[in-house]
Amino acid sequence: MALLDLKVNGQEVRVEAPDTALLLDVLRERLFLTGAKRGCETSHCGCCTVRVDGMAVHGCVVLAARCQGKAITTVEGCGDGMELDRLQRLFLEHGAVQCGYCGPGMLMAAKALLERNPQPTLDEVKKGLDGNLCRCTGYTPIFDAILAYSRGE
Ligand code: FES
Ligand code: FES
Repeated sequence: MALLDLKVNGQEVRVEAPDTALLLDVLRERLFLTGAKRGCETSHCGCCTVRVDGMAVHGCVVLAARCQGKAITTVEGCGDGMELDRLQRLFLEHGAVQCGYCGPGMLMAAKALLERNPQPTLDEVKKGLDGNLCRCTGYTPIFDAILAYSRGE
């Protein structure tokens, strides 16, 4: 077992986990942050996407021990707990959330993209999200929400 010191959604946390624990498991099963979803567990679907020091990563293939001392952001860190943030609101307004299973990962990937490229083209949005699959929306509403965000809507 190892003791991990992480900054999760702005809060310092210390959590004990097996040396081989995956970040997704630590978040979901030890910190009870169930926003990041478990899907393929092989880095193909993106529904487990969270941010580590700002970078979007697939939590199902990242060892939690590699995140020692790092800042982790999950979908629970969006908004203030009572109100959605602007990107979440735009996802809803554009119909980018249907079954919702991909949503937390899409949001985290989109936020990482928008931070490094605040005004992406449609092609850049598609490329930025190419590690995230959605079975419901056909992607267009997700891309529209992200482009609306970049226009300041
Ligand atoms: S569950 Fe991690 S990429 Fe699919
Ligand atoms: S909204 Fe269902 S998988 Fe994307």
